Amino acid sequence: MQAAELIAGEWRNAPPRWGHPLHSLCSYMAMFPPSMPHVFIKWLTREGDVVYDPFSGRGTTPLEACALGRAGMGSDLNPLANVLTSAKTNPPDWESLDSRVRRLKRQLRVLPTRDEPEAIRAVFAPGTLGQLLWLRSTLDRSTAEDAFILAALMGILHLNANANGVAKGLSVAMPNTFAMAPGYVLKYIHDHALVAPEVDVVEMLASRLNRYRGHLALPQRGMAWAQDATLSGRIESGNSKAKLVFSSPPYLHVMKYGKFNWIRLWLLGETPREVDNVLFSTGSLTKYLRFMSLVLHRLANVITDDGYICLVIGDVRLGARTVRLAEHVAESCVPGSLVVRQIIEDRLPNDRKVSRIWGDTKGNATKTDRILVLSAAGAGALPSPPRFDWV
Ligand SMILES: C[S@@+](CC[C@H](N)C(=O)[O-])C[C@H]1O[C@@H](n2cnc3c(N)ncnc32)[C@H](O)[C@@H]1O
Repeated sequence: MQAAELIAGEWRNAPPRWGHPLHSLCSYMAMFPPSMPHVFIKWLTREGDVVYDPFSGRGTTPLEACALGRAGMGSDLNPLANVLTSAKTNPPDWESLDSRVRRLKRQLRVLPTRDEPEAIRAVFAPGTLGQLLWLRSTLDRSTAEDAFILAALMGILHLNANANGVAKGLSVAMPNTFAMAPGYVLKYIHDHALVAPEVDVVEMLASRLNRYRGHLALPQRGMAWAQDATLSGRIESGNSKAKLVFSSPPYLHVMKYGKFNWIRLWLLGETPREVDNVLFSTGSLTKYLRFMSLVLHRLANVITDDGYICLVIGDVRLGARTVRLAEHVAESCVPGSLVVRQIIEDRLPNDRKVSRIWGDTKGNATKTDRILVLSAAGAGALPSPPRFDWV
């Protein structure tokens, strides 16, 4: 059996919620589980290597790399992704984080809320919103402490309700990964007579941060920056090249990362429409393949002579047919300097075949992800997979 065959689905052996505690800092749309980059990083890199994700999202690949002693780099054009990735790749030490939170507690003020958009005033109680406004004007994202505090605030800004129907976060209860459109939220709050909770924001923040105490010292640090994945440019840390790029590019359907993160982007002082205007999104296969060509031409220049590029690309429905996007990308977007090594299906491991077969008999309704494995010309045969201990 080939190495890639042996590795297929290995990440599904990880128990639920497996991974470094920092992975749970904040949810993100279309995120992959940490066990997935973990397998590829352990398989294809060594300690000290550079691992890069040009569509870093919530920073899963860079954090997993840092946790495994590799330098984890991540870029993305979404400012929310940059805040999350930078918090995870460069966390502050506990003492300075704790002293910053104590200082915020002492200085905390409640600012007037009357000039805020109607939907924001409906989602948060006046006292909660006033504190958030003060934090927004006080926190400085360029410091490791405040970037981490902002990322943790993103994680509690809107959450779902507990078993008693009480909101768990700072806002009225909502699905926690995305925010419904402002008009819908206003109507929903009105129809269900929801009351936004008055919360001591810094108190809730401090209790959330306490979860990460003892988990902030990563074996390696990394870096996060804003960059369009199609534009040429080095990896931020100077001349270093990546041994591995592990990433999931935007899919071929319209995913509005700005629109569905309007509350989080409000706290960051960003405009959702402007964010969506710069992010890539299309329903056209031709435009998607042109985009992926540009991305792969750039990535060919940021990997080492024996480096790898692994892209998670899901199948999509186009009208009545299912399109295996990964195969299209392999056929028409790969520059001559790269070699197509494998397309690995994200399937359940053999010992869980029963549910897999059950899934098949349901008419292949389950969504299939595929991982396209490319390498630079200098990479030899794919190494044998290591052992994975999912504890
Ligand atoms: C599928 S998500 C990645 C999710 C990530 N793997 C995770 O686990 O959180 C795709 C990402 O691509 C970003 N993106 C879209 N267009 C981009 C572009 N042209 N350049 C850089 N990033 C872009 C989006 O902001 C989004 O974070």
